[in-house]
Amino acid sequence: MILLLSVYFLSSDTSSQEENREPPGPKPLPILGNILQMNLKRPYLTLCEMSKKYGSIFTVYLGPKKVVVLAGYQTIKQALVNYAEEFGSRDINPIFFDISKGYGVLFSNGENWKEMRRFSLITLRDFGMGKKGSEEKIIEETQYLRDVIEEFQGKPFDTTQPLNYATSNVISAIVYGSRFQYSDHNFKEMVNRMNENIRIIGSPSIQIYNIFPWLGCWLTNWKQIKKLVDSSEITLNHHETRSLVDSFLKRKKNAEKAGDEDTLFHDQNLIITVSNLFAAGTDTTSTTLRWCLLLMAKYPQNQDHVQEEIDSVIGGRQPVVEDRKKLPYTDAVIHETQRLANIVPMSLPHTTSCDVKFQGFTIKKGTCVFPLLTSVLKDESQWESPHTFNPAHFLDEQGRFVKKDAFMPFSAGRRVCLGESLARMELFLFFTSLMQHFRFTPPPGVSEDQLDLTPAVGLTLSPSPHKLCAIRREPH
Ligand code: HEM
Repeated sequence: MILLLSVYFLSSDTSSQEENREPPGPKPLPILGNILQMNLKRPYLTLCEMSKKYGSIFTVYLGPKKVVVLAGYQTIKQALVNYAEEFGSRDINPIFFDISKGYGVLFSNGENWKEMRRFSLITLRDFGMGKKGSEEKIIEETQYLRDVIEEFQGKPFDTTQPLNYATSNVISAIVYGSRFQYSDHNFKEMVNRMNENIRIIGSPSIQIYNIFPWLGCWLTNWKQIKKLVDSSEITLNHHETRSLVDSFLKRKKNAEKAGDEDTLFHDQNLIITVSNLFAAGTDTTSTTLRWCLLLMAKYPQNQDHVQEEIDSVIGGRQPVVEDRKKLPYTDAVIHETQRLANIVPMSLPHTTSCDVKFQGFTIKKGTCVFPLLTSVLKDESQWESPHTFNPAHFLDEQGRFVKKDAFMPFSAGRRVCLGESLARMELFLFFTSLMQHFRFTPPPGVSEDQLDLTPAVGLTLSPSPHKLCAIRREPH
């Protein structure tokens, strides 16, 4: 009898252990977790290394915080797409909660997220995302961008500011209905502060201590945004909806009229949604463009190829989105840049919305999940030469553009980047227009080999500080 009972308990114990098996991982220390094993400047590199040992789903402890890491194309796609609901909530750490208070799109969940995401998508579409409207806005901006680059007269310059101003203005045009002069003091301050915040949030000290020395910066940024929102409220024209802010304020007024006290269309959501769109849509796009130019300067033969293609298909006229189909090589260069630059290497943190059984493991509700995008964009089973710049990844033997499933810089599933089509349009129009009018080279005395592709440390991976020359060229 005793023997039977022990067999029963032993076997039931193992099966429940089986059932509740958590993803494996390195042994954590008390309090510190696995932090001592991490490269805090480039945590995504340590996580990629760990995935070689522990597999495509594993657990690490960042301090006391448990994180489940997903790695490789198959696993990330399966989790984010096939288990979209289960893996589709946002993990909102204390810093982000303090910034967002659960409002906006980027760091919110539940009804608030649903409503703000739906509103942002519909309104961005209404104002032309993926359509003619934003194409015109971007084309207008390419002219200003070219003018400001031209002012350097071929001398070395840092590409950061001009590109940031250009991409911020595209968002401004959609959100507020107007662009800013690059010389506008308030605009410059807002853009520069936003960059600084992104750099600081990604820094190791913030990751470790989770403290708030930069919160003041965010608050002043909010004040700037609030000022712009206020001026929009004053000039709101009820017969004409010119911008995302106007649409929002209209929804707010309608809710007030209807006596809807539970409406999510309130000032907090407006300010945070607007600031989310700037934060998520400016630096990401301009950083990618900076990588494009740096890679062109480093690999002049690829730049030759792009310019020959643009010259022969477009000549000197303004490039438009329609041209993309006829420019497969240029399109491949942009895709390959996004793949290699891998600017959001760990996506943004997700969390499980319920207990999930996934690939034989149990992940408890509320567990933080990192989709390690870098492991998809550099997945050895998906790319011929994952670690080198090779536009042929996106070309077939006839030189036609081919889509790749593992091209996932915008993530996937329920939380997939909301601005993907706008970003793709911006990348194409800004890049072709710059390639058409300028030849990008290293500064005099610097060889192509010396151009460094090591990314700087930050929330998004931007190139290390560098300067390039933009030599004016006439399209043939
Ligand atoms: C090259 C440019 C861009 C890249 C690489 C990029 C990448 C990403 C990634 C990886 C995420 C996280 C997805 C996840 O949680 O799994 C994200 C989210 C987001 N992006 Fe982008 N993005 C870019 C441009 C833009 C632009 C132009 C906008 C604005 C119009 C934008 C707005 C957003 C928003 C609002 C979210 C949060 C979505 C949510 O939580 O539901 N992004 N993006």
